[in-house]
Amino acid sequence: MKSISTDIIYIGTDDLSIDLFEGQYKVPQGVSYNSYLILDEKTAILDTVDSRKAEEWLAKLETALDGRIPDYLVVHHLEPDHSSVIAAVAEKYPSMTIVAGAKALAMIPQFFENLSLEGRTMAMKEGQVLELGKHSLKFVSAPMVHWPEVMVSFDESDGTLYSADGFGKFGALSECGFYSSEDKDWDSEARRYYCNIVGKYGAPVQALLKKASSLPIKRICPLHGPIIDSDFGHYISLYDKWSRYEPETEGVLIAYASMHGGTEAAALKLSEMLREKGVETVEFDLCRCDLSAVLAEAFRYPKIVLAAASYDNYIFTPMYNFIHLLQIKGLCDRKVGLIENGSWAPCAGRLMKEMLGQMKNMEVVEPMVTLHSRIHKADLDKLAELAQAMA
Ligand code: FEO
Repeated sequence: MKSISTDIIYIGTDDLSIDLFEGQYKVPQGVSYNSYLILDEKTAILDTVDSRKAEEWLAKLETALDGRIPDYLVVHHLEPDHSSVIAAVAEKYPSMTIVAGAKALAMIPQFFENLSLEGRTMAMKEGQVLELGKHSLKFVSAPMVHWPEVMVSFDESDGTLYSADGFGKFGALSECGFYSSEDKDWDSEARRYYCNIVGKYGAPVQALLKKASSLPIKRICPLHGPIIDSDFGHYISLYDKWSRYEPETEGVLIAYASMHGGTEAAALKLSEMLREKGVETVEFDLCRCDLSAVLAEAFRYPKIVLAAASYDNYIFTPMYNFIHLLQIKGLCDRKVGLIENGSWAPCAGRLMKEMLGQMKNMEVVEPMVTLHSRIHKADLDKLAELAQAMA
């Protein structure tokens, strides 16, 4: 529990023991489920937390309320990492009104079948204001950032944007800092969070940024990660870039999926050739690394090389999974070089081209390099041509 101002208290919880966030993302520094309490003439709880932290959160809430009864529970986002304690808190405080967008209110029974909220809900529309006394929360619809029911709210009294998943970050607050100004490396885990959680929804994020651009923001309180308290231009410009799928840097990302080392050797040789030309490269072994991290790097770099073995007359599975990930996250506007390998019937290149052809503006750079088992002398010339074309 921590005071953000005289009447706003942070009542969120860190989760350092979760193995996989959303059942798939490794979070070596944990994750925070942020929740806030505004103590004004009226009291408002802003979002709850994941069920893993229900008891801890309920205890914090009770302490922070210090005997008061909450008037409102604001639900910005209904995903269970923020809404799992709705039923428990609604039952504990039967006079409390649930405030959310109409879509969220309609979805609540999907998660809490036996919870009756009849006469206890307030459906907020775009621009509608919840008056708390000194504080007033203006609601702004943010569909698909990250679910369709999401609304963010802006406190006109102190310039606080309650941004739901927007501007969130992996990492518990005890690990990365309570405020962004204390966080030594916000960008990398915020990027991995953004690309994997919200990456598909670039256009909705752009729409929200456009709405937010007219707000006099002095603080951003997301549902994960540190509170952003300064240097707003930095964070907003990163969100602008990510949601336009615009690379952040120069250089080439080289991702390879190799069964017996031949494909890996070619990928690393190409990387060496590029570096000799002064091009920055990063290499990822897709068989062994965390795909969520490679996806984030694919958002960073303008050029990508994919090197894959052929397998069962298809693309070797780790590479297939990676390209599929790029597809579903909507990555676009990249130049892509291809290396395929096959001991008797290489087919990975043709199939990777097909997958890239289903994406928006992914330009395949020629020549594609075809290996037969290992790099041979003639292949070095082709690799050099590809390096030249990528550089
Ligand atoms: Fe942190 Fe989309 O929930």
